[in-house]
Amino acid sequence: MADLSTTQTIPSVEAIPQHIAIIMDGNGRWATKRFMPRVAGHSKGVEAVRVMVEACIEQGVRYLTLFAFSSENWRRPEEEVSILMRLFMIALDREVSRMHNNAICLKVVGDLSRFSEELQQKIRQAEMLTKDNTRLTVTICANYGGRWDVIEAMNKLLAARPGIEQISESDLTPYLSMAYAPEPDLFIRTGGEQRISNFLLWQLAYTELYFTETYWPDFGRSELAKAIQSYQQRERRFGRTSAQVLETKKAS
Ligand code: IPE
Ligand code: IPE
Ligand code: MG
Repeated sequence: MADLSTTQTIPSVEAIPQHIAIIMDGNGRWATKRFMPRVAGHSKGVEAVRVMVEACIEQGVRYLTLFAFSSENWRRPEEEVSILMRLFMIALDREVSRMHNNAICLKVVGDLSRFSEELQQKIRQAEMLTKDNTRLTVTICANYGGRWDVIEAMNKLLAARPGIEQISESDLTPYLSMAYAPEPDLFIRTGGEQRISNFLLWQLAYTELYFTETYWPDFGRSELAKAIQSYQQRERRFGRTSAQVLETKKAS
């Protein structure tokens, strides 16, 4: 079912979102507010990731997708970019075996070719080690852009079927970088901005959106519970009327 789009089929809606996608924003401001360098916020942000992974397991979430570095983040000062790369590497070294012991499957999506060979290798090893784990799938979006994802999928499709003249949604979706997961049920952005910033453009078509002022390093268990509570109050209609939704609920 993972490759079917919400614009074509109505997914089953569970009380707990099966897939949560998060833009982890506000690390820099968290640090600046404390008169600390921005990097201190990024380090704190890594700790918040660990907490969120545990919290998602406790809540029964199946897929957690985290925006760690966007294709636009290369525009930051070189020093900040290289610190972020180093932190990513350290986090992989520290966390992968613990993740594996907790039956977590780790995936990294994005244009990885711009990363150092060492980092690419660590990513490949981590993915290989954890590939059969099924408790929670954690996806890190690194050098990821929603437009890149769609264009990349298009190019892969063209390469697989040269000469193809028309395509449908179901031709394209298997080539998207997250084809292994259902589309996100809940999107969370911390840090107060209300924008998508070129995150999962295709996959967020029918996702419930949740924005919070809380900076990412302060986003913990209780904040996640609040977001899930908000999600539970939504009525996901997927184009239908409210009466139709109630009718389907009664029938099931
Ligand atoms: C998000 O926090 C982390 C990355 C983009 C890597 P920011 O670094 O964007 O923090 P703010 O938005 O400047 O506070
Ligand atoms: C989005 O955050 C990307 C990540 C969290 C990795 P940014 O802080 O880069 O987003 P904009 O540029 O303010 O929209
Ligand atoms: Mg930001």
